[in-house]
Amino acid sequence: MTVALASDHVGLPLKQAIMAHLDERGISYRDFGTDSEERCDYPQFALPAAKAVAAGEYTCGILCCGTGVGMSIAANKVKGVRCVVCSDGYSAALSRAHNDTNMLALGSRVVGAGLAVQIVDWFLDTPYEGGRHARRLEQIREIERSGELPAREGG
Ligand code: RB5
Repeated sequence: MTVALASDHVGLPLKQAIMAHLDERGISYRDFGTDSEERCDYPQFALPAAKAVAAGEYTCGILCCGTGVGMSIAANKVKGVRCVVCSDGYSAALSRAHNDTNMLALGSRVVGAGLAVQIVDWFLDTPYEGGRHARRLEQIREIERSGELPAREGG
């Protein structure tokens, strides 16, 4: 497993706590920046990390900003990215099991480092279940491809 990381200046301390946690777990990662507390724009860092995840260069990605919201919106613009913004472990785990999420966004103004690393663990350690969820993911891919879905039978 290898993880793509990115943050803006607000998310930087949380990203550093997550990097220390990944080090403890022996999980490799690449940090796509930012690496300073100078004010910056989160899409600049979300985009290269999201593109690398979508290209299959990383197993998944973790993004940090003030709320996780801006980072997740930016990442979800990249085709093939399914980024979940979470402040609880249950949503992180179910997003993996049901939605096969490949990126997690966390807010440094929302969750403390202790909770954040637990959310990271739920996200990293929960496998995708497939089965009935696969059809729904295929529909999401169709929206990405054509912007439409076939009419539902009987509906
Ligand atoms: C930066 O002030 C803040 O807007 C950013 O970190 C993030 O919360 C955006 O969603």
